[in-house]
Amino acid sequence: MKAIELFSGIGGFRIACDSLGIETVWANDISPAAAKVYQQRFGEENYHFGDIADYLDNIPDHDLLTGGFPCQPFSSAGRKLGLEDARGTLFEKIVHILEQKKPKYFVLENVKRLLSMDNGKHFATILDALSGIGYLVEWRLLNAVNFGLPQYRERVVIVGRRDHSPKSYLCTSSDISELTPHQAAIASNTDHWKSIEDHGSKFHPWGVALNGRFFHAKIEGFSEAEKSVKLKDVLEERPDCSFYFTEDTLERIKNSEEVNRFYNGVEILYNQKGGARMGYSIFGVEGVAPTLTCTTSRHYERYKIGGEFRRLTAIEYARIQGFPDDHCASARLYTQYPLYGNAVPPALVRWAIKRTISNTGTNFESSSAQMELV
Ligand SMILES: C[S@@+](CC[C@H](N)C(=O)[O-])C[C@H]1O[C@@H](n2cnc3c(N)ncnc32)[C@H](O)[C@@H]1O
Repeated sequence: MKAIELFSGIGGFRIACDSLGIETVWANDISPAAAKVYQQRFGEENYHFGDIADYLDNIPDHDLLTGGFPCQPFSSAGRKLGLEDARGTLFEKIVHILEQKKPKYFVLENVKRLLSMDNGKHFATILDALSGIGYLVEWRLLNAVNFGLPQYRERVVIVGRRDHSPKSYLCTSSDISELTPHQAAIASNTDHWKSIEDHGSKFHPWGVALNGRFFHAKIEGFSEAEKSVKLKDVLEERPDCSFYFTEDTLERIKNSEEVNRFYNGVEILYNQKGGARMGYSIFGVEGVAPTLTCTTSRHYERYKIGGEFRRLTAIEYARIQGFPDDHCASARLYTQYPLYGNAVPPALVRWAIKRTISNTGTNFESSSAQMELV
């Protein structure tokens, strides 16, 4: 099986594909820093640096298209029947490649907000485009904490399969067991699905779509992790003194309110007075990390570790996202934080890819390329 990785960043999808024995034959990103890390880790041979728009007609055949695409607003200028206009966006490039190359599968990843942005119009446009070009589309909200990582990171994965009738797919899908019998009956008969144009203000955490129609449900979360991992489990023992802000933080605490509670599994010790503005919180390590991002101020957030206060190291960022400690070692320290913050946890998309292709009869677990995920 051959994959391509669009918007490849530092290769979260690449690690997942390698671990399943899927060969990545083409990867692309426009960021020089991400390109350097990717090429250093995985080689230069199949890597193509630059704007995806410049490569649209030169992409090789593949079975699986993957990508964590940047979330850009769609234009409302061409709005018709409640849907928006995807023309000129990076999402449109994905649709173009799917239409040209017709891979059997795709697995895309994005932020949770995609389900509710602009009263659901954004996601409706995405579903309409993907389900209108021959794919049975399924989406699901996943959280890194359920994949053995110490981070509250909610992400929506959108997967597509060609040549699958909803009925045959849903009857073998593990999701069906999480639906009520009534929901399952609707899910496996597209005649009962709603038109995407009649979507509500936001989409539920799970759903399916085909040919402009969809069905969605509020199904329960689940955990793939054998045990829950806490932030304290992945800390470096004694990082360099440049990571410590103890004096400065004690001063900051004078203007903060004690909170001492867990929110979404994150231990919050103090908030700056006047509101719980992220970036002014001080965290504990008994819970999980808040969502890592590419925003610089977030990289300076303080954590109380032992009796001292410090920010997290880039190695800790790697561990929280499920990458090898030295994955971004070829980048400067301050560049490593946003690269990890932007990445997709390999374990999360590995689950989605494996499930998407699992009806092909290929035994991916026994593949010789099987690697241990960190
Ligand atoms: C959310 S990140 C994806 C991260 C990736 N999944 C990973 O694991 O590191 C989006 C990526 O899209 C890239 N990007 C943005 N505009 C692009 C364009 N026009 N062409 C190619 N890549 C682009 C960014 O540089 C960024 O690395």
